[in-house]
Amino acid sequence: MSETPTWTQSASEQPPSPEIDITQPHAARLWNYWMGGKDNFAADRTAGDYVAEVYPDIVTMAKVSREMLVRQVTFLAGEAGIRQFLDVGAGLPTMQNTHQVAQRVAPESRVVYVDNDPLVLVHARALLADTTSEGVTAYVEADYNNPEAIIADSRNVLNYEEPIAVMLMGVLGYVEDVDARQSIVTRLMEPLVSGSYLVLWDGAATGEAVVAGGEKLAEAGAVPYYLLSPDELARCFSGLELVEPGLVQLTQWRPDTDEPQPIDAYGAVARKL
Ligand SMILES: C[S@@+](CC[C@H](N)C(=O)[O-])C[C@H]1O[C@@H](n2cnc3c(N)ncnc32)[C@H](O)[C@@H]1O
Repeated sequence: MSETPTWTQSASEQPPSPEIDITQPHAARLWNYWMGGKDNFAADRTAGDYVAEVYPDIVTMAKVSREMLVRQVTFLAGEAGIRQFLDVGAGLPTMQNTHQVAQRVAPESRVVYVDNDPLVLVHARALLADTTSEGVTAYVEADYNNPEAIIADSRNVLNYEEPIAVMLMGVLGYVEDVDARQSIVTRLMEPLVSGSYLVLWDGAATGEAVVAGGEKLAEAGAVPYYLLSPDELARCFSGLELVEPGLVQLTQWRPDTDEPQPIDAYGAVARKL
């Protein structure tokens, strides 16, 4: 059993801007580390390894979550005809970002990213640079605990008279209370017209190892991530119509393989009636 890690800042690493604290692990950077990205610091990597020691599947979860995002956004921009996306808790730019996937199918897609991590803001420029000439990609720095602020700001880019897909991809686990999670979803979905969508996934307490991983994360000094049961996660979709195959393990959402591997995380796409 390893000891709780302590953070020593690497001499070669400097924060990209003074308000960014690289001495403590941060959610977006930890996720970037597990995804195989480079936008992380020693404290993130130490905490990431500490969690992965007891729950190695966290790395798989990061990978398959992005693969599911690609399948879901492709479905929304294609079959469902959605042209507007509000990706809340977007994280640091990675291989296949929402606007790239959506604009590959429909170049005129408008995408607003939201996050409250200052490093994500620093990297937002990279996200915005490669948007199509027909489409729009924008970034809003905001906290999802204030959905009304997100809606007000995103109105500069998104037309709330037309359907919008709200995405909460592995982000609501920082909210412990199930009712509080549901309230965030309800308030984000409330101003949307019928035919809009919710896309949401989260880690689930479906095994001992994932629960141990969650405990290690908190011990490591990162913001705790609360794991719910799949039934509790299902409450976030109350009043919405689940698109086939419903709320399933990430790898089982319209998989492009015959043998999707099991993972302790559930996701779904649902339509506002
Ligand atoms: C596990 S990462 C997921 C990133 C991305 N959605 C993905 O699927 O790869 C969680 C993200 O949620 C963001 N986040 C955490 N709490 C937030 C809050 N209260 N408001 C907005 N974003 C938040 C973090 O900064 C981080 O980028």
